[in-house]
Parts: sequence; structure tokens; C-alpha cells
Amino acid sequence: QGATPQWRPLLHYSPRRNWMNDPNGPFFHKGVYHLFYQYNPVAPEWGNMSWGHATSTDLLHWHEQDVALPFNETKDIFSGTVVVDTHNTSGLGTAENPPLVALHTSVFKKNASREPGVQAQSLAYSLDDGQTWKPYRKDPVLTLSPDSLHFRDPGVFWYAPGGYWVMTTVVANAPVVKLYKSANLTDWTFLSDFGPAGFVRPGMLWEMPSLFPLPLDGNEARQKWVLMLGINPWSIAGGSGSIYFVGSFDGTTFRPEGLPPDGSDPAAYDWLDHGADHYAAIPFSGLPGNSAVTIGWMSNWDYASQVPTSPWKGQMTLPMTMALRTVDGRPQLCLEPDSHYTALVAARPTLSFDGLQLVSEQHLLPDHVHGQVLDIDMNMHMQSADRAGIFVRATADGRIGTGIVYDMKRQLLTVDRSRSGLTDFSARFSHEHIVNMPAPTGDISLHVIIDRNSIEVLSRHGSIVITDLIFPPAGADRVMAFSENGTTEFRNMKITLLDGSQ
Ligand code: FRU
Repeated sequence: QGATPQWRPLLHYSPRRNWMNDPNGPFFHKGVYHLFYQYNPVAPEWGNMSWGHATSTDLLHWHEQDVALPFNETKDIFSGTVVVDTHNTSGLGTAENPPLVALHTSVFKKNASREPGVQAQSLAYSLDDGQTWKPYRKDPVLTLSPDSLHFRDPGVFWYAPGGYWVMTTVVANAPVVKLYKSANLTDWTFLSDFGPAGFVRPGMLWEMPSLFPLPLDGNEARQKWVLMLGINPWSIAGGSGSIYFVGSFDGTTFRPEGLPPDGSDPAAYDWLDHGADHYAAIPFSGLPGNSAVTIGWMSNWDYASQVPTSPWKGQMTLPMTMALRTVDGRPQLCLEPDSHYTALVAARPTLSFDGLQLVSEQHLLPDHVHGQVLDIDMNMHMQSADRAGIFVRATADGRIGTGIVYDMKRQLLTVDRSRSGLTDFSARFSHEHIVNMPAPTGDISLHVIIDRNSIEVLSRHGSIVITDLIFPPAGADRVMAFSENGTTEFRNMKITLLDGSQ
């Protein structure tokens, strides 16, 4: 397969070459953001799972580092967490030089002492700020009894009220989240199980659980806990996707509040993202203050191995700030781009349009509004139109473009990538991603982040997100607005040109 530089993302992390899936152990330490990830060091396909590593000081410019945790003949390294063991509870460092501790899943192989395929939790640590990692002498630190082939993805955090570490893991095929606690990161005791719960189907896996507190509507006195996890398959957009529960955690048990009464309608559950390409999302640890930032894998297990990029396969979503907000009467997990991204946009040339009225027509924005990487912030006031929206990464003749469309009658927001460029590399590359979004007055606000091979659409205070990969030709770089069957006014439209911003 020939190289595809036209699809190398500018703002999103991708490894120089080879396969990448889940983000692993993202953390902030001494002014540097570290990102690890499921990586195959030798081929652009899943296998030989190891932890790749990249660093950044602004979450936008990443520097790929040496592989941090390589596979070997006895085991593969699956997903997990890194924590800064500030008080040296593990005793693996010193008070002056606290260790960085990576809890991760080991998948044992034929020639290991365990049955092939057994999954258990292991520990590695670093005493040089994450440059090199040593395996802990006791491997693994946590097993399931009897041994399991599906026990993985430790998410670890410091539970301050109890003064201990908490680990969330899954027995993926149960599907159940298992919670453990530890005083030292090496000896773990069982706390409780959560699940199956919510929208569950036969054969559905739960993966990559994380549990974290967030203030509701910015009010620290009204803190709630969020349990976020990946489900695969059966996601709302097909294949793999992420769901979350809001509730309480007393140091032992997570209790969700306000679960829909029956599990039959996936739309009744809380989805982190309604697009197809946002999976295995996990929070950064070690962030200053109360900030909460998440990052996910921008792909889908339905077609990840067929994605037509080369010489790399796999990229991350933009890091997003998380907030818990009351939207439509219930607490919802809301995403917005991190402040480094907002600063980047503020520093780039912006073109503004206001009061653009369209009456049953399409309108190509002038040709100086073009680019492969754009930030679009806009409002639409749909006076009488049935449907209105924009096409991005479009050709001037309108034959190619990714649609962001609001349907007034059905009150639905859709991203339509059926004419986005290359789509036929997999029959499972789904075309339309639809979310119910009430807008009785016809006022829609949209924030759209367009990179060389992706779009991220945010609306309703970030409670609605649609993240999708697209593979347009390089020349499809125009923006078209449209209003169908009536009038729409496009208000306060700001388009920031981000090509060349790196
Ligand atoms: C999620 C996942 C994890 C596992 C890893 C293997 O995408 O399946 O459960 O640890 O990927 O690469």
C-alpha cells in the first residue's frame, strides 16, 4: 500500500508507522504530557501488543519516543494506567524521586508459566520520568481465580477520602467491572462488582473502564462519580463505542443513578460520542487542580484494520476537557477541546460570516475559505427549512463532502459521510451517525473540528459529540452551507484556518 500523506492528521496524534489502538496511561508530570498506547512495533496490523510512547507540552505537538513496554516471547502487553506514586506508597522509588507506576494487563503466551491467553494485571515502574521502565519482581500482581482469558484494562486512581488506590478492571465478556483497592499498588484486594447493567447484548464486551469524580455544574459541593467504559460490539454507531454512568462511589461500590428502566433502546443510554470513531477513552492522571481531560482511540473495531492510511494505522481523538453539566434535566458528561487547542485557534486567521440567509439553496463559501484543517464555530437559525447544515471537506461542485445536517421535523443531528471520499474499504464503514437533539426554536449551535482525515462535531454544551474518520481527496477543501425547503440564517459563523498551524 502506498503512503497516504494527505490523510496524516495534523492536530491528532498518530505514530510514524505501524498499528496503534487504545490510549494507555496518559499522565501529566513535570510539565510534560505523556501518552502511551497499544502499539505493534513491527507491522501495521494488530499484534505483538506493546506500549508505544509519545510526549507533548501542549497536547497538540507530539514527539514519538521509544517503545516503553515491549512485548516479548512470554507475554503481550495490553491496556492500562500510569500513576505518579507521589508518596512512594509502592516503595519502588524514594520520597525525593517518586516512582511512576504503570499497571497494565499481561497476556501470557505458550512458553510462559501460565496457560496461553491468560490475562492478569502486572506492574512496571520508572525512576527516570518515564524514559525507561522496569518490570516489578512479582508478575503478575493481580490474577482472577480461576484464571481468566478476559480480565484486563486496569484503570487506577488515588481515592483521597479513603487514603488508598482504587483499580477498575473488566471481565470483558461477563460483562462486568471489578473494583479493587490497594495501599501500595502491588497488593490488591477485591472491593465490588458493577454490572452487567444498562444497555447489554449477548456477545457484548466491556473494556477500558475508568472511574472519576466531577463537580456537577462546576459546584464542588455537588460532586458525582462517572464510570466510563467501552462497549464492543453493539455501539450506537455500530461496532465499538463508549458509554458512561453517572452515580456515587463510597470507596467500595459504584451506584449509578437514573438508569433507563429497560435495556432495549441504546439511545436511552448515555453515549460519550454518537460517532463511529471514539473508543477506549480514558482520563489523564496527574493533572493540576481539578482539571479532567480525556483522550480516545479514533477508530472502530468494525473496520480499524482496513482503514486506508499508510504507513500508520490508528490515531487518537483530540484531548478533550470533561465537565458534568445538567443538560435536558439530567447530569451529562460534556466534552470541549482542551485550552491549548482553544489558544491555537485564537492565534490563527479567522474568517467571519453573519446574517447569511439561505432560502432553499446551497451556498458555496468564497474560495478564500478553504483548507484541509479547519475549526468552524457557528449558529443556525432555522426559520422554515426542513433541513439545514454544512458540507465540509467538500469539492466546489458539491459531489464530495461530509454533511453535518439538522433535521427540524425529526429533531435529529446527523453526520453523513456517505460522500466523504473513500468509503468502500470496508462494508462496515457506516455512513450516517444520528443523534436525537431537541431544538424547538430552530436554533442550533455547532462546533466542528476538521483535520485531514477526521471530523469532530460538538453541540449542546458538549453533551453531544460525533467523531468520525473521513478519507477525502486532498483537493476537497471547501465549505458549503445549505437550507432545504425553506429559510435558514447562518449566524456568527467563524472559520479558522488551521493548515500550517503545526
Ligand atoms: C480495547 C482492547 C482492550 C485491550 C486492548 C488490546 O480496544 O480490546 O480491552 O486491552 O484493546 O489491544
